[in-house]
Parts: sequence; structure tokens; C-alpha cells
Amino acid sequence: MSARATTFAAFALGSLGVLATVTSASCSGGTDAEVTMLTPEQLADPESCRGCHASAVAEWEGSMHAYASDDPVFVAMNRRMRREAPSLAADTCTRCHAPSAARKGLLADADPAAVEKLARRDKGVTCIFCHTIDATTGTHGASVRSASDGVLRGGIREPAKGAPHGAVYSALHDREQLGSSATCGACHDVTTPKGDLLERTYAEWQGSLYSKEGPSGLACGKCHMDGRDAPAADTPGAPVRKVHDHGMPGIDLALTPFPHADVQRSRVQAALEAVVLSKLCVRPSPSGVDVELTLDNAFAGHEFPSGATHDRRVWVELEALDGATSLLTSGKIPADRAVFETARTDPNLWIFGDTLADESGKPVLFLWEGKTHAGVKLPYAVTSDPKDPRFVHSLTKVYRVPGLPTSVSAKVHVRAIDVDVLGELVRSGDLAADVASKVPTLEIRTAARAWTKDLGFICVGP
Ligand code: HEC
Ligand code: HEC
Ligand code: HEC
Ligand code: HEC
Ligand code: HEC
Repeated sequence: MSARATTFAAFALGSLGVLATVTSASCSGGTDAEVTMLTPEQLADPESCRGCHASAVAEWEGSMHAYASDDPVFVAMNRRMRREAPSLAADTCTRCHAPSAARKGLLADADPAAVEKLARRDKGVTCIFCHTIDATTGTHGASVRSASDGVLRGGIREPAKGAPHGAVYSALHDREQLGSSATCGACHDVTTPKGDLLERTYAEWQGSLYSKEGPSGLACGKCHMDGRDAPAADTPGAPVRKVHDHGMPGIDLALTPFPHADVQRSRVQAALEAVVLSKLCVRPSPSGVDVELTLDNAFAGHEFPSGATHDRRVWVELEALDGATSLLTSGKIPADRAVFETARTDPNLWIFGDTLADESGKPVLFLWEGKTHAGVKLPYAVTSDPKDPRFVHSLTKVYRVPGLPTSVSAKVHVRAIDVDVLGELVRSGDLAADVASKVPTLEIRTAARAWTKDLGFICVGP
């Protein structure tokens, strides 16, 4: 073993147990150097990457990918699904939420709590799962093929020598290639067991402007994995590369103690602040004023909300006041009230998100029961041609206010998962009430708009 390889091995693996020493079958082009290669067990453990890829590990370990099978809401739903729909495959949910464990067959038995008993290294969407994908075999249901050669795939074209694992370039991992969206899309489209393509982030992206070759083309990773210039490995002499953020904030937050939860919270807030543009116009009408609110999905590469839209709730709180007297109030929803339930007594309520129904049209709450879904979401961009009628990716709602307000305000709120779903999981004993109460209502503060009478009949917003 060369001195250089020994340094690498000692640097990264000092605290690990038995090491396999083999001659590196390097994919990076002939090296005669002997490198202490990671064993298959070590390759499957994100902890063995920390010594050389500290920032990727730190970002990932606080991400929803790492949390995907810890998430108590997921655990509760998965347990309930196993109990109420025992004929469904054991990995109906875990093939995406704990794919490495599911692939290893660790979740195949009848124990509905198996996913809770997994070792840390098998939980969530692991490094090895993403980095061994070598083909996609479909567009949903985690339909990817995993290479078993122990070679890690990534976006670096000529990986440097000295890695304790094979390394090879893969277009499926390169965010400069539109085709890399298929890697994400394999999990980010979810079909219910009854055949409803319910979560459609990938399908939406495929229909969008961003999936078209040319200047407007943007793969998922262009928006969700920011690049920065730094060495990709913390090893002596590693070249400066474009390295990519593995934190991937969205909407969801860790509800139980989890690494860097405070970082995740502020990153989710920042991501939400950068998704919609809003405009509020106040115009005279025969009976008072018309308040016209426009929300533009200016920055998402798919609908907003997207994905788990049967859980996600986005809604508008609007208030038109004459002094302290309300002329029209909508969307003031207490923390313990479900958004769609509120709509029954709040006819003006503007909601984005889906409701699910079974084959008889009866409303249901859970993915495995759903046959159809319906709801309003902000549309995605399909063309950059302003003359094309499909150019608009905003929605507008007119609130008819009886009388002349002195002030009008609009706010946009977001819940990752609503209290009707959480409450039902608490009721069935699958979710602890104190955990359920931790799901926050967030506000997209950049979308808030306020109008006062002294401005006259104008529009406020960009
Ligand atoms: C002893 C140090 C070391 C350890 C431990 C290590 N790597 Fe690497 N890894 C490297 C080096 C060096 C490179 C090449 C970097 C470059 O070319 O800039 C690399 C490259 C990569 C690449 C990019 C491949 C490509 O072609 O784009 C991925 C992905 C990767 N490693 C994942 C992992 C994962 C996952 C683990 C843990 C199971 C791990 N590495 C453990 C040193 C290490
Ligand atoms: C093996 C399946 C799988 C693959 C591959 C995958 N994801 Fe995910 N992803 C998930 C799951 C499951 C969650 C949800 C975890 C949770 O909320 O509990 C998630 C969550 C996310 C979130 C956070 C969503 C939120 O609402 O908080 C983002 C953003 C994301 N993924 C983007 C990506 C991108 C970009 C890629 C491709 C580079 C990708 N994912 C590849 C399964 C996957
Ligand atoms: C959801 C899938 C996913 C997971 C999980 C994931 N990665 Fe990555 N990773 C990617 C993608 C995609 C790229 C390539 C981005 C590009 O080049 O456009 C990447 C790139 C890398 C690279 C090359 C340098 C860079 O930043 O481009 C390293 C090293 C790496 N990942 C290590 C890890 C480690 C270590 C873990 C676990 C702690 C991990 N990854 C988990 C998808 C993933
Ligand atoms: C043009 C930029 C862009 C592209 C391309 C893009 N996204 Fe997004 N995505 C966003 C923005 C902006 C948001 C909203 C911010 C947030 O949720 O915090 C978002 C939100 C999400 C969420 C959380 C959605 C929710 O409502 O729960 C997921 C998951 C996600 N994206 C996955 C993907 C995947 C997978 C792809 C590729 C198939 C993709 N995105 C392509 C910009 C983009
Ligand atoms: C094809 C992959 C896939 C399958 C199968 C799948 N999920 Fe997911 N799940 C995802 C992705 C991706 C997200 C993130 C979507 C988003 O951010 O909007 C997610 C998000 C979730 C969330 C939201 C997390 C939160 O706390 O807000 C829950 C809960 C969930 N899934 C439960 C389940 C259950 C239960 C099943 C099985 C009946 C299941 N999932 C099957 C990919 C999958």
C-alpha cells in the first residue's frame, strides 16, 4: 500500500472496524496504487463517508431524505397501512421512504413496526441508494436499477484517484443533463395502490418549460441542489469541483430531535419565501370594492404545492377592514382546525391542495385508500412566449367586499400536513398527540400584501 493511500485510509476510516484491502479497480483510469477499499457494509453506511465528504453528510443528515423513515407521521401512516391493508406489499411505502432497507429485504416480514427498528444506516434515502442508481426503469414507484458493483455514480466526469470506492460519471446524476430528473422522478411520482397518479412532481416537470432542451431547461438539481466551488473530497490534493447541496429543503420539517433541525427550519422558510409572487389590486365596484389577488408560481419547476398535495395545504388569509370593523374576513384558521373543514363556513376561502376520494367517491385521508384526487394548485410554466395564451402561470381570485375598506391585507399560509390527517392518526393510536401538535403553520412572508385607502384604487406588488 502506498503512503498516499495509507493517509487516505487513516484519515477517513480511523474509527471503523475491519477494512478490506484490495487493489483498486479504479474507474477513473488506470492507477496502480493500492487503496483500502470500503467493504459493502461500510459503503452502505453514511457514517463511512463523513471523513472525506463532511459537507455532503452534514447537509444530508438534516434533510428529509435522511428523515424519510424516521418521520413519525410517515411511521404512523405506514403502520396503519400495514394493519388496515395487509394485502398490500410490505414495501408499498418503504420502497421510497427506506429504499436501501427495502432492497435488502429487511422490511419484508409481517412486523408492521419493522421500519422503526432499522439501524440508523438503513434509514431513509441513503447515500448508497442514490449513488448506485445506474438506470431508471419507469417513472414512479422508485423504479430504478441499482448497480451491485460497489462503484459510486456522480456528476464528476473524471473522478480523482484515491477514493476508497469506485467512482464513475453518470448523466443520471448530472444536474446539467435534463435526463437527471428521471433519477429524482422515479420517487417523486407516486401512484396509489388503486392506480391514481397522486403525487406528480416529475410528471408536472415533464409537462413544463423546464423539461425542454434549450435555455429554459432546468433539471430538478438545478433548483434543488445549489452548486458551489470546493473540493468534492476532503482529501489532500483533491481538485476544486462544483459541489452540490444535499440539504434539499422543501416544506416538511423534522418533528422529533434530528441533526441540524434549526438549519432545516430556516432553509425551508427561505425556500418558501422564494416560490410565489403576489399582487393585490383594489378596484371600485357597484357594492363596494373588488379585491383582486393574483398568486404567480414564478419559481417552481412544477405545480405549487406539488408532491404530497393530499397532505399539503396552502391558503390565503384575507381581511378587508373599515377601521376596526371587518367587511370581509377569510382564511383565519385556528391551529386545530382543518383547512378544508373551514371552507364549509368560509365560502371565500382560497385553498391550494388536493382532496382524496375512494372508488365510490367517498372522501378518504390516506394514500392507499385513494382512487381519485381533485383540487387547485398554482400551475407551472409551459412556455416562455408571452404571446402564447398558456404563458400565464398564475391564478387570480376576486373577493367582493361590501363597502369601502380603509385597509386590506393578504397573507399566504402553508401546512405540510393538515390537522384532519394528523388527528385521525392520533385517534387510531398511531401518532402521539404532542408530536402531531408540532406540525407548524408557516407563512410565505414575501407573498404578504397590504393596501390602505390613502393609496387610492391601485395594485400593490411587483
Ligand atoms: C477516504 C476518502 C473517501 C471516503 C471515505 C469516501 N469517498 Fe467518495 N470520493 C473520494 C474521492 C477522493 C473522490 C473523487 C473526488 C474528485 O474527483 O474530486 C470521491 C468521489 C465520490 C463521488 C463522486 C463520483 C463521481 O464520479 O461523480 C461520490 C458520489 C462519492 N465519492 C460518494 C461517497 C460515499 C457515498 C461515501 C461513503 C459510503 C464515500 N464517497 C466515501 C474519497 C472518499
Ligand atoms: C429513493 C427515492 C427518492 C429519490 C431517488 C429522491 N427522493 Fe426526494 N424525497 C424522497 C422522499 C421519500 C421524501 C419525503 C421525505 C419526508 O418528507 O418524510 C423526499 C423529499 C424530498 C424533498 C423535500 C420535500 C419536502 O416537502 O420537504 C425534496 C426537495 C426532494 N426530495 C428532492 C429530490 C431531488 C431533487 C432528487 C433527485 C436528485 C430526489 N429528491 C431524489 C424520495 C426520493
Ligand atoms: C437523493 C439522492 C442523493 C442522496 C441521498 C445523496 N446524494 Fe450525493 N449526489 C446526488 C446527486 C444527484 C449528485 C450530483 C449532482 C451533480 O453533479 O449535478 C450528488 C453528488 C455527490 C458528490 C459529488 C460532489 C458533488 O457535490 O457533486 C458526493 C461526494 C456525494 N454526492 C456524496 C454523498 C453522500 C456522502 C451522501 C450521503 C450522506 C449522498 N451523497 C446522498 C444525489 C444524492
Ligand atoms: C425552476 C426551479 C425548479 C425545478 C426545475 C424543480 N423545482 Fe421543485 N421546487 C422549486 C421551488 C421554488 C419549490 C417551492 C419551495 C419549497 O417548497 O420550499 C419546489 C418544491 C419542491 C418540493 C416540495 C413540494 C411540496 O409542495 O411538498 C419537491 C418535493 C420538489 N420541489 C421536487 C422537485 C423535483 C423532483 C423536480 C424535478 C422533477 C423539481 N422539484 C424541479 C423549484 C424547482
Ligand atoms: C414512489 C415513492 C413513494 C412511495 C411509494 C410512497 N411515498 Fe410518501 N413520499 C414520497 C415523496 C417523494 C414525498 C415528498 C413529497 C413532497 O414533498 O411533496 C413523500 C411524502 C410523504 C409524506 C409527507 C411527509 C410529511 O410528514 O409531511 C408522508 C406522510 C408519506 N409520504 C407517507 C407515505 C405512505 C404512508 C406511503 C405508502 C402508503 C408512501 N408515502 C409511499 C415518495 C413516496
